[in-house]
Amino acid sequence: MRDAREDDYTTIYDCMTETAWKDVPEEEKVISDRSLWEQFFRGIAKPLIERPGRKVFIACDDDNDFMGYVITGGMGEGSSVIPVGMIFDIFVLEQFRKRGIAKMLVEVAEEYCRQQGIWRMKLEVAANNPVAIDLYRKAGFKDERTLMGKNLS
Ligand SMILES: CC(C)(COP(=O)(O)OP(=O)(O)OC[C@H]1O[C@@H](n2cnc3c(N)ncnc32)[C@H](O)[C@@H]1OP(=O)(O)O)[C@@H](O)C(=O)NCCC(=O)NCCS
Repeated sequence: MRDAREDDYTTIYDCMTETAWKDVPEEEKVISDRSLWEQFFRGIAKPLIERPGRKVFIACDDDNDFMGYVITGGMGEGSSVIPVGMIFDIFVLEQFRKRGIAKMLVEVAEEYCRQQGIWRMKLEVAANNPVAIDLYRKAGFKDERTLMGKNLS
C-alpha cells in the first residue's frame, strides 16, 4: 500500500469514469451522450480527489505497480456535527479482483480516518452495484438512506 503519485492520476480518472458511467441509471443513459457525459464527469472528478483533506491510497504489487485505489477523507466541516469520514471511491483492476484487495483498501481508509479523529464512516453506492454493496455490508456498513428517481412525463 502506498500514497498516490502524480503518475497514478490518469489511471484513477479512467477507473472513476468507468464506475461512474456504470452507476448512471438506465433512464439517464439513454438520453446522455457518453463522450459529453465523460467530459462533464472529468470536470467534477478532479476536485473530488484533489480537494484539501482528501487522501488516495494505492494498492500495489511488489514492483509498486497499481492494482487499485481508495479515495477517502473527512466529509468536511459543515456537513455534519460529528466528524464523519467518507469512502469517496474504491476500485480494483479486474485482473486483481476477488483477492481481498478492496477489503484491505477499506480497512486502510478506516484506519486513516481514525487517525484523523474521525469515528464514523459513510459512503454512497449505486443500487445497481451488488458487488460493492456486498463488500461494504461485509465491512460493517448499514443502509442509511435511499436516493430515489423517476422521469417526469
Ligand atoms: C467492488 C470492488 C472494489 C471489489 O474489489 P475486490 O478486490 O474484488 O473485493 P475483495 O476481494 O476485497 O472482496 C471483498 C468482498 O467484496 C464482495 N465481493 C467481491 N467480489 C464479489 C463478486 N464478484 N460477487 C459478489 N461479492 C463480491 C464480497 O463480499 C467479498 O467478501 P468475500 O471475499 O468474503 O466474499 C471491485 O469489484 C471493483 O473495483 N469494481 C468496480 C468499481 C466499483 O464498483 N467500485 C465501487 C464504487 S461505490
